[in-house]
Amino acid sequence: MKIVVMGASGHGQVVADILFQMWTKGREMEIIGFLDDDPKLKGTRILGLPVLGTFADLAATPHDCLALGIGDNAARARIFAELSQARKRFVTAIHPSAVLAPDVMVGAGAVLAAGAVANPGAKICENAILNTCASIDHHCELGPHAHVAPGAHLAGHVRVGEGAFVGVGACAVPGVSIGAWSVVGAGAAVTQSVADKTTVAGVPAKPLA
Ligand SMILES: CC(C)(COP(=O)(O)OP(=O)(O)OC[C@H]1O[C@@H](n2cnc3c(N)ncnc32)[C@H](O)[C@@H]1OP(=O)(O)O)[C@@H](O)C(=O)NCCC(=O)NCCS
Repeated sequence: MKIVVMGASGHGQVVADILFQMWTKGREMEIIGFLDDDPKLKGTRILGLPVLGTFADLAATPHDCLALGIGDNAARARIFAELSQARKRFVTAIHPSAVLAPDVMVGAGAVLAAGAVANPGAKICENAILNTCASIDHHCELGPHAHVAPGAHLAGHVRVGEGAFVGVGACAVPGVSIGAWSVVGAGAAVTQSVADKTTVAGVPAKPLA
């Protein structure tokens, strides 16, 4: 299975590393290289992999499926939609050190980084990210294109809406909802549900003025 990583920035490199770790644990795959929208990167090597061109070069790049290495939720959602429409397939990148209960549902193109934990009944929708050492407890749901950043912890039955972002080291008490396309600041403690398209921060988390 030939995989191209779309995006060679920091998150793209994390995704490529997860794929390397999956491969060394015996998954049949060949990581062809990166495509990145910065044309200056073409011809360079990152993590030993070639940057083969920009996203426009995808058609000319041999591949069976794609991994999206794009951290920004809105950009990742847009590219996922475009490529889905073009009937592209997405690899689900799960680091071998991630711990998932057997019934956890993981959607196409989702990324679970090193040390991520998802407990029973959790659902991780397509193109969502559960980043390094982040945990979602029982019956949590990460909506499509959501991102739970490194070291964030969600208690049971927390819902993270489509495209929402939970910052590094944040936490949420059981049962709260974080609205679609909302942002939870680094280190915040979410004790009440957050409306859609709202940025909150602090302990307890409050909307930023
Ligand atoms: C919350 C956040 C999105 C706000 O970003 P912003 O809109 O650019 O806000 P600013 O940096 O202009 O800060 C606005 C105010 O909020 C405060 N603030 C910003 N982030 C805060 C946080 N995480 N907790 C508490 N207060 C915060 C600032 O101190 C500032 O206060 P002031 O007006 O009294 O000076 C951002 O600071 C943040 O926490 N992002 C998370 C980043 C992250 O986790 N990345 C992980 C990548 S994997």
